[in-house]
Amino acid sequence: MLKGNSFLFLKASLKLQLIMKEIKIESTLFVFKNVQELPQEAVALMEKAVQAREKAYAPYSNFNVGAAILLDNNEIVLGSNQENASYPSGLCAERTAIYYAGSQFPEAKIVRMAITAGSKLNKTTKPIPPCGACRQAIAEYEIKQDMPIEIYFMGETGAIAKSNSLANLLPLMFDKSVL
Ligand code: THU
Repeated sequence: MLKGNSFLFLKASLKLQLIMKEIKIESTLFVFKNVQELPQEAVALMEKAVQAREKAYAPYSNFNVGAAILLDNNEIVLGSNQENASYPSGLCAERTAIYYAGSQFPEAKIVRMAITAGSKLNKTTKPIPPCGACRQAIAEYEIKQDMPIEIYFMGETGAIAKSNSLANLLPLMFDKSVL
């Protein structure tokens, strides 16, 4: 037997089900088993990302990240995470690199980005995706240049994931169209 209140709740939720529609969001990523499987142009950029990672300043997390960005003027811009005793003042590798690219080469378009992350405390063997804040920052440049940015990301060893566009990594993106 339904009591008065539960009956009302049932009625309300049935009504909700009638007006609610489900939206499914899909993303496509490609996964390469190792660096040897990558296309040549990505191998070279990932090697640069490794060099950048080796210059990370991450004494607090011991988690080193390197990013390499290829621009359409053939410049390669590198960045690594830069930490701070006041933790939130630090900056991720991807944003260090992309803000440098945006400030030094404001007219250039970003063709592709390679990211690698490795902890000093344990071997990082899985692809490490850019954090949410970095995705938001990369999204800004993808929209600005009206051209997709290819993103390759890996740990220190092992598989590499590739997204053909930042948009695949940031569904329901907040962008200038909503302002
Ligand atoms: N980090 C990055 O550099 N990129 C990311 O996308 C995620 C996290 C850095 C920030 C911090 O220095 C350390 O990794 C641990 O979070």
